Amino acid sequence: MSNDSTKKTIIVALGVCLVCSVLVASATVALRGRQLQNKKLDKIKNILQAGNLLDEQKKNDTDYIMDLYNKQVRPAIIDLKSGDIIPESEYTDKLNPEKFDIKAMSDSPEYGERIAGDLDIASIKKMPRVMAIYMVLNNEQIEQFILPVYGYGLWSTMYGFLALNRDLTTIGGITFYEHGETPGLGGEIDNPLWKALWQGKKAFDENNTVKITVIKGKVDTLEPGAEYQVDGLSGATLTTRGVDYLVKFWLGENGYGAFLAKQREVLKNE
Ligand SMILES: Cc1cc2nc3c(=O)[nH]c(=O)nc-3n(C[C@H](O)[C@H](O)[C@H](O)COP(=O)(O)O)c2cc1C
Repeated sequence: MSNDSTKKTIIVALGVCLVCSVLVASATVALRGRQLQNKKLDKIKNILQAGNLLDEQKKNDTDYIMDLYNKQVRPAIIDLKSGDIIPESEYTDKLNPEKFDIKAMSDSPEYGERIAGDLDIASIKKMPRVMAIYMVLNNEQIEQFILPVYGYGLWSTMYGFLALNRDLTTIGGITFYEHGETPGLGGEIDNPLWKALWQGKKAFDENNTVKITVIKGKVDTLEPGAEYQVDGLSGATLTTRGVDYLVKFWLGENGYGAFLAKQREVLKNE
């Protein structure tokens, strides 16, 4: 067969394609474990950052991160409807804080459910009936609750954590570990300066009604109600509106409402 023949050209091209696809597939399989590990570590880092626990100088030190997490954070799974903490004896392969996957649980017939359109202010359509949450302990006393939150922005579903201090009203911090908003615009939800604006804000009023709001523009700190307001991101009103809605949804009665009400009673009696 001549080197210029069409048949030989096609055979060589197919051979190159085959070798390349085998190489890409092998690399994908070989790196899958590492990718999952990195994703898990990033989530843990975000939990610690939401709770303002992480020393930013050491944020790339895996041993430090895991040590801090294991010492100070206790995960739990809660039933969102009843607000009860599910006993560890009921954990299964899926119902397990270490393996908890919000997307898989929302899709699962056993643990997920559809949200009625008029209630779905976070535009998530489905949610799990149970949720893995994280409690920050100090001398065995709960200092913070770190709650997973998610909702739609402009382009994507934004997944993050909101920390509530022991009073169950003051916000300890917020982080997002997964989103597809535009860098420099909606992507500024990752900006540490913006995230810092949440710390110390009040999520609820004295009647435990959700009050926290991301406003358009800057908060006038001299105006009454400033403690319930966070600056919007300029040029990214649609993303920040999404953050506003998702926080309201998850802190409200269809999100963590029942759990927070139960914890208020527990902490009041302590
Ligand atoms: C390419 C492109 C990407 C954009 N990405 C975002 C985004 O991620 N989040 C967002 O809220 N607005 C984004 N916008 C801007 C919105 O269309 C809209 O103008 C903006 O949210 C309004 O915010 P403002 O009222 O603060 O100006 C984008 C616009 C363009 C053209």
